[in-house]
Amino acid sequence: MDSFFSWINLTEHIVFTLVIVILINIYLKNGKEEFFRVLVVGLKALPGVKSLIGKVLHNEVTSFVSTTALAKKNVGKESVQRMQLPKKGISPEELRNEMNILKSAEAESAKEGKIFAYVYTVIDQHWKLQSEAFDKFEEKIGHSLEHDTIVNEFLHAFLHENALNPMVFPSLRKMETEIVSMTAAMLNGDQDVVGFVTSGGTESNLMAVKTYRDMARKSRPNIRLPEIIAPITVHPTIDKAAHYFGLKVIHTPVGDDFRADVQAMKEAINENTVMLVASAPQFCHGIIDPIKELSDLAVAKGLPLHVDGCFGGFMLPWVEKLGYNIPPFDFRLPGVSSISADVHKYGYSVKGSSVIVYRNAEIRKHQIYTYPEWPGGLYGSPSMAGTRGGGTIASAWVSLKALGVDGFMDKAKELMDTTEKMMKGVKEINGLKIMGEPHMTSFAIGPSDKELDIYAVADAMEKKGWTIERNQKPSCIHCSILPRHTAIADDFIRDLKDSTAEVKENKTLAKKGTAAMYGMIGTIPDKTIVSDFLVEFFSEVYK
Ligand SMILES: *Cc1c(COP(=O)(O)O)cnc(C)c1O
Ligand SMILES: *[C@@H]1O[C@H](CO)[C@@H](O)[C@H](O)[C@H]1NC(C)=O
Repeated sequence: MDSFFSWINLTEHIVFTLVIVILINIYLKNGKEEFFRVLVVGLKALPGVKSLIGKVLHNEVTSFVSTTALAKKNVGKESVQRMQLPKKGISPEELRNEMNILKSAEAESAKEGKIFAYVYTVIDQHWKLQSEAFDKFEEKIGHSLEHDTIVNEFLHAFLHENALNPMVFPSLRKMETEIVSMTAAMLNGDQDVVGFVTSGGTESNLMAVKTYRDMARKSRPNIRLPEIIAPITVHPTIDKAAHYFGLKVIHTPVGDDFRADVQAMKEAINENTVMLVASAPQFCHGIIDPIKELSDLAVAKGLPLHVDGCFGGFMLPWVEKLGYNIPPFDFRLPGVSSISADVHKYGYSVKGSSVIVYRNAEIRKHQIYTYPEWPGGLYGSPSMAGTRGGGTIASAWVSLKALGVDGFMDKAKELMDTTEKMMKGVKEINGLKIMGEPHMTSFAIGPSDKELDIYAVADAMEKKGWTIERNQKPSCIHCSILPRHTAIADDFIRDLKDSTAEVKENKTLAKKGTAAMYGMIGTIPDKTIVSDFLVEFFSEVYK
């Protein structure tokens, strides 16, 4: 035994000497900087050292944040409890008071113009013009729309503030943190769930893909071309993210019920897979993927599962509470590692706000971009956008606060009632059907009669003044039910019935308009031609 230990000691000794020799060599050849770099990289590789460095860094950051002059303007008391949506919506008067408190908390330097970045506002006629444009808009939509009014007031008040530097406008940081917290609580996240506010569903999904790509880069550096597995019904933002960030999407089929095929996704997993994606619900037909089964798969395979809740994130929790049968889709499922949810959809705020939430801060770290070498200073940014307008953050915050749980429940009830009424009306029209079994406030209408060209029905509807969304593969039309539909649900059913009858009677209608165009595109086997057509289209309409 003795000799064994001395042998170990000898090996250690040799390794140690070798390391010293290599380090000295680096020092002599490449200088001090490279020497320290290699030393630090080597140290970080030792077990325990990395987490120790992590702790030291965390302490440094906490004490830095608490000592900066700007942070002294921190708003309100720090609370350890997760902030949740208020039960009852907060009144406009109270919210306006809070706005004054928030505004007064902005860095004195920012208010007096003693800052050298972030705000390029010209305080003159130009500023007045912009303000007036918003006042006009408010007049136009009418002050009776109380919710829109308070949302617009906040948009207006924070329009010129910038969330690029979290220390200059602490009120924006506070609002962003609270939006994320309320969203996390709504999606049944525990205390560990964290996230960021983004400019929309696209940015939220882009960030999820970037996060898992970077996570895989760290833990599985051998992957050359990382792969995402997602059903064909996933929103194209996932494909866009893959295109931007150098990943590949493996699209798997959906079943006859338009839900992701779990077995197909399982079979598509290989050594390059870095994430799974599912939707709650997918936009095309308003149907939720089998997220519980995919969560189990994700846990079994040790892969992250991103749930695209851009569309349903701010609707499904309330529809479930109303008593509808909603399959589980949120953080209650252990395999769900992130969820995107758009505040500018069923969060009823103005365009330009969404939330991306992650199961814990360790995952979220991979979203943050840093560049410490810039002569302009230490640079870091949590998402795609650098400058981030304060207006959209403030509007999102006030939208959630003004509605509260009760407000969201009321809206969900109204919209679900309208949806059910419209779906019932569609089913009663001869020749039409609802595609699959939609879960919330949207559905797709397809032909129940093979002879009927649904795109010709869409064209006929447009002649009657409607704007219709067309789905393909299979052909159907999409309807998201919006607050304004309650008043015109009957008109829709009447016009749809008439349009369907017109198309049935007149076969030439199927050979005209978008019906003809979609028919033609469907027959082109080479989709790159269709892509070229789309590029041409955008070049033309933005001329
Ligand atoms: C709307 C939507 C997106 C994209 O969001 P934008 O806000 O349009 O950028 C992504 N996924 C789903 C399911 C959506 O409905
Ligand atoms: C059928 O539709 C076409 C195209 O709109 C129209 O020109 C034609 O008059 C219609 N025929 C009948 C019988 O309504």
